[in-house]
Amino acid sequence: MKKQLFYAGWLLALAAGSFCVWRFSAPSAPAQKQAALPAATSASETMVALLNEPLLPLPAMPDLDPRKVSLGRRLFHDPRLSKNNTISCASCHNIQTMAGADGRKLSLGIEGALGKVNAPTVFNSGLNFKQFWDGRAATLEEQVHGPVTNSLEMGAQWPDVIAKLGQDADYVTEFKTSYGEGSITPDMITDAIAVFERSLVTPSRFDRYLLGDKTALTQREQEGYRLFKEHGCVACHQGVSIGGNMFQTMGKMADYFGDRGNITESDMGRFNVTKDDRDKYKFKVPGLRNVALTPPYFHDGNAATLEEAIQTMAKYQLGAAFTDEEVGLIIEFLKSLNGEYDGKPLEKSSE
Ligand code: HEC
Ligand code: HEC
Repeated sequence: MKKQLFYAGWLLALAAGSFCVWRFSAPSAPAQKQAALPAATSASETMVALLNEPLLPLPAMPDLDPRKVSLGRRLFHDPRLSKNNTISCASCHNIQTMAGADGRKLSLGIEGALGKVNAPTVFNSGLNFKQFWDGRAATLEEQVHGPVTNSLEMGAQWPDVIAKLGQDADYVTEFKTSYGEGSITPDMITDAIAVFERSLVTPSRFDRYLLGDKTALTQREQEGYRLFKEHGCVACHQGVSIGGNMFQTMGKMADYFGDRGNITESDMGRFNVTKDDRDKYKFKVPGLRNVALTPPYFHDGNAATLEEAIQTMAKYQLGAAFTDEEVGLIIEFLKSLNGEYDGKPLEKSSE
């Protein structure tokens, strides 16, 4: 009983917080959007509605130091974090035109080096229980070390990066303001980037729907959401990120890798971290917010379209086959997860 009360209290706080995110992130939204805010729904009604949902609205953005957010944004876009000043985090995670990903099957790193897995979006990455497909980084701070020193990504060494940034008077001042006296360290860089990444949250129409505004989704989108629940997608894609909170085998109901062929080390997934045979072919279930904007799909980038990704999930994760109509409805639902950042809808470049 106590536990339930705690859970209900937590949901209430979450619901209240989510109102804040929405208001906070869309200050200049058109009037018709403001009018659709679920203001009339009481907090207790919202809570009761949420208790029945496997998916949860975005929690309030954590309290972030705006100076660190802005320093982190600058570092994220700075190619001096790479060995030859050509690649920044944004090269593979374009937050302006690629919804935080790169639109490639496999990423292109320094000197055209081809990566081994598909780049996930950085939007909402602060909500993941672990980072990377195999979960090898526990936190965003820990994650940053990966690409900077990875020979296929940015190929740099920290002392070189720090020497370069130390020659930039603006950086020296900005680091001092945020982190106090003393020279720039890798920890300061990773901290600022992680703080910036935590600001990359994207409230969507679906959040407004969950919070009680039933007009926020069309009938077809609601039907798609119903199918998403009924078919069991929510067994793995759940919570605030609609994923991002567990590892699962790719190919639970059929042999995905056997059918695809050409098995690589990266396909071993979580096993590469734990060396436990039971973790072979297990991956972090990706969050599905903004998923319609970030093709291609899966760790191997093997599904070019959302249709293909959904049919693959049906076959290999659920042992099912969907009609075109069902796939179309699920896609409509997934598109309602496309969110806003800085008060603007996220975009995918049309090239
Ligand atoms: C060359 C392309 C490339 C560059 C440059 C790059 N990344 Fe990535 N990023 C990737 C790929 C590919 C993955 C997935 C790797 C994996 O899971 O093994 C990834 C994963 C991530 C993740 C984990 C997301 C998740 O859902 O697990 C975060 C966060 C991230 N990158 C942030 C950054 C930051 C910060 C930088 C700059 C310091 C950066 N990336 C630079 C390609 C890149
Ligand atoms: C048994 C767990 C499980 C179930 C059930 C499941 N998924 Fe997944 N989903 C995963 C895993 C694991 C991945 C990542 C697989 C990979 O990268 O190889 C994934 C990936 C995806 C992706 C690609 C996301 C991206 O960014 O690459 C989409 C889209 C998706 N799932 C949609 C669905 C839909 C729709 C359903 C229901 C029809 C569903 N999933 C059911 C575990 C599951």
